[in-house]
Amino acid sequence: MPNNKAQVLVARRIFPDIVERLRAHCEVDLHDANEPLPQAELIRRLQGKQGLFASGTERIDATLLDACPDLRAVCLMTVGYNNVDLDACSVRGVLVSNAPDVLTETTADFGFALMMAAARRISESEHYLRRGDWKQWRVDLFAGADVHGATLGILGMGRIGQAIARRGALGFGMPVIYHNRSRLPAEQEAPLAARWVEKDELLRQSDHLVIVLPYTPASHHMVAARELALMKPTATLTNIARGGVVDDAALAEALAAGRIAAAGLDVFEGEPTVHPALLQCANVVLTPHIASASVPTRRAMCNLAVDNLIAFFGGGVPPTALNLPLKPRP
Ligand code: DGY
Repeated sequence: MPNNKAQVLVARRIFPDIVERLRAHCEVDLHDANEPLPQAELIRRLQGKQGLFASGTERIDATLLDACPDLRAVCLMTVGYNNVDLDACSVRGVLVSNAPDVLTETTADFGFALMMAAARRISESEHYLRRGDWKQWRVDLFAGADVHGATLGILGMGRIGQAIARRGALGFGMPVIYHNRSRLPAEQEAPLAARWVEKDELLRQSDHLVIVLPYTPASHHMVAARELALMKPTATLTNIARGGVVDDAALAEALAAGRIAAAGLDVFEGEPTVHPALLQCANVVLTPHIASASVPTRRAMCNLAVDNLIAFFGGGVPPTALNLPLKPRP
């Protein structure tokens, strides 16, 4: 009997039981490693494959699509899809799906934690203690900024931005201001008393600025030297969006010069490489792109990518497709 199951490449190591779930529906080729496939190898492994389970690291562009004529569906386990040329996929009739919603609360928890760690100097003081530098208690020892009651500024008020705003407004009594291309409807602003402001106003007024914008050509270096100069010297900046939204070199300079008080960064330009000047700054908390990394959430993200693959190849509607309706791939 001919095997007419779709051939799918899983481009990185994921939870084995979730691979097995996919195997019940598709022929799976698993790249069972944490290192991403080099582009030429990714293209080679995609020959004769109709589906790709991908993350935020595989580059899906016109060159890859033209070199992989059988490819019909690219299903990401991430919500961000700046590594995928969506237009190039759409014109070639290739489905793209991402993984929204399932990571919203987990990522917001982490963004809030990073902001608190920066404000209250948690990493900096832990390093001091581990180095054996703690000789006596002092009134001003690692005295930082308050979080409760301080003004929370959010750049990018999508699902994750709103979840952070809820934590700030309802849990910590923080006045919330935000900047986004479009204002939230009044009924969404009201429970948080959230106020839309111009970007420069957001930078000037925020005590704690959290950046949660998607990375696009328009958001490249949206926070650079000019913007950092507008911020309060007591302010913190937290980036859980994508490297490239913040100019990391300019941020390192601002941190070193005390132009802002502290930063919390989970994403970096050119990650996993981190700008060397940031590594020299004591007043920045650095984490390796783990904002969505709770076990249940990473499982939910993988399962959602698999749901999309199973639905697409089973003739159903992929639950979180980004480019439906799809024209047939020539
Ligand atoms: C996402 O889902 O976009 C997270 O940043 C993990 O890459």
